[in-house]
Amino acid sequence: MNVSYVHGFDARESTRLADQAGTLVELLHGGTAYTAGSRVLEVGCGVGAQTVALAQRSPGATIISVDISAASIGQAVQRVETAAFMNVVFVQADIFAPPFGAESFDDVFVCFVLEHLLQPAAALAVLKDLLKPGGSITVIEGDHGSTYFYPESPAANAAVRCQVELQRRAGGNALIGRQLYPLMTEAGFDAVKVSPKMVYVDSSRPDLVEGFTRKTFTAMIEGVREPAIAAGLASPDAFNAGVRDLHRTTGPDGVFCYTFFKGRGAKKDARPNGGARL
Ligand SMILES: C[S@@+](CC[C@H](N)C(=O)[O-])C[C@H]1O[C@@H](n2cnc3c(N)ncnc32)[C@H](O)[C@@H]1O
Repeated sequence: MNVSYVHGFDARESTRLADQAGTLVELLHGGTAYTAGSRVLEVGCGVGAQTVALAQRSPGATIISVDISAASIGQAVQRVETAAFMNVVFVQADIFAPPFGAESFDDVFVCFVLEHLLQPAAALAVLKDLLKPGGSITVIEGDHGSTYFYPESPAANAAVRCQVELQRRAGGNALIGRQLYPLMTEAGFDAVKVSPKMVYVDSSRPDLVEGFTRKTFTAMIEGVREPAIAAGLASPDAFNAGVRDLHRTTGPDGVFCYTFFKGRGAKKDARPNGGARL
């Protein structure tokens, strides 16, 4: 039930995911730490870019990290071994056919995965089954519609829309961040709270200029150049102009803004003394 991964699985994408996670670790993982002894399911761990942050911030928890791609799991294993974390177990699996029993996990963590799924609501229903009553779920997604920058550029906006359209044609949704609250509440999670996590970048923050505007966002748009042109969504000149203008926002007077959405919820615990672990 997943769709083709619009960003691809090559080395450049693996580096981009690592740059993204490294730059945004505090923004995305702030406030997320799991109690010692918890079993935490990380869904769609990819090359392990978020896994290392989870393992580091919750040293007493066991992180069970799942991905459908064996190649990505291989890279994730290396990343976690290099960082010498001992509290991670990797499992290659399709989350729509999970090799786990119902109510096997205390917590679930999902980052940048629902946007690639044809049926994100069905995925949340599966994850709810896997959670123990009272267990927590954290879902983080981006929303490319939240992208704005200075200097303004119709060409850059058009290049971003190419990525959104390609992802839509592949069955995903690059605008899913704004939909987290309805998705999580409709899946039946309790006490859902969604926080916007805005990345604001100007030249006084050179780490974000490099790590986010250039190496995460613009690299992602550059990565769809060939498919966008092949699909007739942009001419080579128009696409190049868009990418050039995205790079232009990294100049001394440039500004770049993007918002991620972080949703937290719990599985209702109907037992008399039950309560959410939020
Ligand atoms: C954009 S990557 C995000 C990786 C990681 N969470 C991060 O934030 O860096 C999306 C990941 O979801 C995985 N994925 C997609 N569909 C899946 C499914 N049905 N079951 C398990 N993993 C899936 C992909 O293989 C890919 O590694």
